Amino acid sequence: MSFPHHRPRRLRTTPAMRRLTAENRLAPADLILPAFIREGLSEPAPISSMPGVVQHTTDTLKRAAAEAVELGVGGIMLFGVPAVRDASGSASLDPDGVLNKAIRDVRAEVGDDLVVMSDVCLDEFTDHGHCGVLDANGYVDNDATLEIYGQMAVAQADAGAHVLGPSGMMDGQIAVIRQALEEAGHKNTAVLAYAAKYASAFYGPFREAVDSQLKGDRRSYQMDAANRREAIIEVELDLEEGADMVMVKPAMSYLDILADVAAMSPVPVAAYQISGEYAMIEAAAANGWIDRRGAVTESVLGIKRAGADMVLTYWASELAGWLKEG
Ligand code: PBG
Repeated sequence: MSFPHHRPRRLRTTPAMRRLTAENRLAPADLILPAFIREGLSEPAPISSMPGVVQHTTDTLKRAAAEAVELGVGGIMLFGVPAVRDASGSASLDPDGVLNKAIRDVRAEVGDDLVVMSDVCLDEFTDHGHCGVLDANGYVDNDATLEIYGQMAVAQADAGAHVLGPSGMMDGQIAVIRQALEEAGHKNTAVLAYAAKYASAFYGPFREAVDSQLKGDRRSYQMDAANRREAIIEVELDLEEGADMVMVKPAMSYLDILADVAAMSPVPVAAYQISGEYAMIEAAAANGWIDRRGAVTESVLGIKRAGADMVLTYWASELAGWLKEG
């Protein structure tokens, strides 16, 4: 094939022409704001490795959720930081525990105007920082953990979460959670499966954000960065188990995985632009090495272009504000 008269630059001549011919667009509704609430705080606490992100109090979390509604943001993903931890993460099951209470408070604030999502995982709640309970050898016990995930899911659905986000990478977690929800009568609570979640160095700042107690790593349950094909089986298993949506995480170093998953998934695909991705851009911008707004916008657009229907990003509300300005 030859295109003797084609000049790609014709479609780049003016801002209006570029806008008309853009293949992908960002919209506030595609964005999900991850947010942290910490038990016992009287003032929001800054997270030093994530400048601009805080551990919220109940009040500031409700305000952030209301602001997200104003800006047309699609959803909020809640993470709780409890005051007391133990080996089995029992605070995760307490209806008045920090995360369950936050779900109720945020729902009371936003009703159905924002999709309220919550993290189903034990790492914030255990005193050893792993995403599940440990067996006698210190190995994360898959099936003992599943039992707790099922109860945690019901507690979060009781509190009013619209969507649950199981992020612990235990085998069979979606099936167990779906079954527990059905048995408890929560037929309409959706599950966004962290299907292809990799063991990543870029989670570092998040561990500060949730005051993680982890020593060691999560390589016996999260995926190996070397693997591409394996992401497809993870997604297929989660779909078979009843996932309503699937996620790839992290985003920027895994855009090939995201493109693969987007090509085969019959359900909406999310990507999580994680804490370390946020921190890198913020740090470079703070040094004057890159243009902050340009880099933030381009990074999220790249994730959309790779195939994400929705993006979890700590810039969700700020970016939504820019998109509204036009
Ligand atoms: C586990 C969880 C993690 C993140 C989201 N859910 C941490 C981990 O797997 O170590 C990381 C998110 C981020 O880095 O922004 N509950």
